[in-house]
Amino acid sequence: MKKTIIITGGAGFIGSHVVRLFVNKYPEYQIVNLDALTYAGNLENLTDVAKSPNYTFVKADITDYETISAIFAQYKPDGVIHLAAESHVDRSITDPFAFIRTNVMGTCNLLHAAKELWKEQMEGKRFYHVSTDEVYGALENDGTFFVETTKYDPHSPYSASKASSDHFVRAYHDTYGLPVVISNCSNNYGSHHFPEKLIPLAINNIKHKRPIPIYGKGENIRDWLFVEDHARAIDVIFHSGKNGDTYNIGGNNEWTNNDLIHLLCSIMDRKLGRTDGESAKLITYVTDRAGHDLRYAIDSSKLQRELGWKPSLQFEEGLEKTVDWYLANEAWVDRITSGEYQQYYEQQYSNR
Ligand code: NAD
Ligand code: DAU
Repeated sequence: MKKTIIITGGAGFIGSHVVRLFVNKYPEYQIVNLDALTYAGNLENLTDVAKSPNYTFVKADITDYETISAIFAQYKPDGVIHLAAESHVDRSITDPFAFIRTNVMGTCNLLHAAKELWKEQMEGKRFYHVSTDEVYGALENDGTFFVETTKYDPHSPYSASKASSDHFVRAYHDTYGLPVVISNCSNNYGSHHFPEKLIPLAINNIKHKRPIPIYGKGENIRDWLFVEDHARAIDVIFHSGKNGDTYNIGGNNEWTNNDLIHLLCSIMDRKLGRTDGESAKLITYVTDRAGHDLRYAIDSSKLQRELGWKPSLQFEEGLEKTVDWYLANEAWVDRITSGEYQQYYEQQYSNR
């Protein structure tokens, strides 16, 4: 069936994988990538699909309601998959207001524009908010998991802004009948990941023999999921998720930061022809992140049971693929880590 879908944040890390999947898998859909191209957005992530007849890019800022409402009037989307956000926890600690503007106000602008466009006919429409497991707060290291009914308990300005936007999505469903669906996903890794986040930062630093900063004692635990598995989950939930429902997405793949970095170091030693243990000498323990959540772990059994999704890749295999991509795409990393990012990076580490 013909459909127009606006994907916000499509020039970012996860968004570019979602755009690529939808453009290639659904030639009958018109995919509109709406992105402001902040420091984290890069059209180079999508050169392989940029000329596809079912793909359009629109540069726009979701914090500007007038512009968003005009874009909705022009393209008349049947669906919105909303990923645009400020996504980095450390940045939210230094500039919380940017997160309130984009993640809270921006999401409300999109919800309102969708409600105005669809108010006469909500059937067949869908607003999908791509959210995070960080809204649930932190777990002890006790074998428990976040489920869809876990109480929200965000700690960082980033997770508070995402929790707030999730609440607005539900409010638009409950108040105006907007057809919505939400997913809360664990940590993604894979190609095109901005190198301010742990895995691509560590790959880049190992390559250049720079210190690998580990916050605190490195005992924090994250549940890592290959980004293409997340994109597949978004596809399944967008098409088959139940209206008004939430789905947790995770890799069932918990690692302490210490163990993860040691594994990455040994993969990189092998790939770079270094002696085993050489890269691990770069590990440097630095001041902990303020309010650092101890552990995230997702129970994704609802998604597996109801919609038949499951992760496809073992972590070691996914990490190898990721390292290979970064080593083969040094120019991509060099370009995005110059300029504004270079200044941010130097500032971050001069404070630690
Ligand atoms: P990212 O930072 O790589 O990309 C964000 C994209 O949004 C960029 O292309 C940027 O240009 C765009 N953007 C930012 N502000 C905008 C604005 N005001 N108007 C329009 N576009 C704007 O982020 P990501 O890691 O790909 O995350 C995408 C989404 O998935 C986010 O909503 C995030 O909360 C969520 N999420 C991320 C992870 C993860 O591990 N990265 C896990 C779970 C959920
Ligand atoms: O859980 C989902 C979330 O995962 C997403 O919602 C966020 O958008 C995404 O950025 C990610 O958040 P994290 O804070 O978990 O990811 P990050 O890569 O920044 O950090 C992963 C872990 O590594 C965390 O415990 C902090 C630690 N860390 C991070 C950096 C950047 C370090 O020890 N050193 C570092 O230099």
